[in-house]
Amino acid sequence: MIVLGIETSCDETGVAVYDSEAGLRAHTLFSQVEIHADYGGVVPEIASRDHVRKLLPLINQCIDMAGLGRSDIDAVAYTAGPGLIGALLVGASTGRSIALGLDVPAIAVHHMEGHLLAPMLEATSPSFPFVALLVSGGHTLLVEVRSIGDYRILGETLDDAAGEAFDKTAKLLGLGYPGGPALAKLAVHGDAQRFAFPRPMVNRPGLDFSFSGLKTHTRNLWINGDHDSGTRADIAAGFQLAVVDTLKIKCRRAMQQTRAQQLVVAGGVGANLALRQALLHAGEQYGWNVSYPRLEFCTDNGAMIAFAGCQRLLAGQTTGTEIKAFARWPLDQLSAVENIAQ
Ligand code: KG4
Ligand code: ZN
Repeated sequence: MIVLGIETSCDETGVAVYDSEAGLRAHTLFSQVEIHADYGGVVPEIASRDHVRKLLPLINQCIDMAGLGRSDIDAVAYTAGPGLIGALLVGASTGRSIALGLDVPAIAVHHMEGHLLAPMLEATSPSFPFVALLVSGGHTLLVEVRSIGDYRILGETLDDAAGEAFDKTAKLLGLGYPGGPALAKLAVHGDAQRFAFPRPMVNRPGLDFSFSGLKTHTRNLWINGDHDSGTRADIAAGFQLAVVDTLKIKCRRAMQQTRAQQLVVAGGVGANLALRQALLHAGEQYGWNVSYPRLEFCTDNGAMIAFAGCQRLLAGQTTGTEIKAFARWPLDQLSAVENIAQ
């Protein structure tokens, strides 16, 4: 089965062609990062309008890159949520219309399910059951994954998402938007031990996260201290280590609680090299297998949507002719997928 995947939930227009037999055939992406940089964050209306501009050319380009024609597409998978409603509507209405025009089924895909299954695009695919740490700009979740669609939320953030904490801290330090990658780059040159940072909520039982106190602590350090480049790098390094340590402690707790052997890390912050190294090291230490998507599939992309949609389509699921778009959509409301046809 050949599935065209469309992702437009935020500021990336992502398109991919996934083949259930041959794997990923092609993927294309346009990132709007530079368009939103002047505003210090994503402007929803500008995001929607740019998706309108880029989506169809990217779809044509991607089908070409896959060496296929439109008539080879067996189904269309589009991100239906959660995300920016206007941006979602562009991908959903385009995807649904293409499916109608080609007379093939469409499937509405949950963006976070896409992230969660992205490591399965790699040659060393994780096996079920596993614990997934989903760390993106909008979400921080620990999820027990028994099979596709069978998700139990173990913990989530009570305030800022991990990516949001990176972005806000980077903004405070004057690093521009998007902040996560810039802060990570600066942290390489810093001394993470110079300032003490809290590890929020690690002394309380449970698997929830909170990053707002860490953000305030960082703001106070920066406002009341020197503003030289050494201090900036040291604060970036200390902040990053505090986030990484906190995530690692909660992952260990989740692995113990579920007795899982496999940890999957996904979402934009999963591209953070310090986090990847820390969790790989924890895996070696505690005997878990740790899987990540390749770096470009940690952040938003069409490949993960084509893949997730394909799994549901293979199991016989489709979405009707209505155009589905939800700003909010709890992950644990998804139906489980059984009997995947090969
Ligand atoms: O998954 P994603 O592309 O979009 C959402 O669904 O939110 O994640 C974007 C988030 C942003 O907050 C960005 O700053 C963060 O992921 N991010 C990083 C890194 N790369 C992206 N955070 C820390 N270190 C990175 N290397
Ligand atoms: Zn995302």
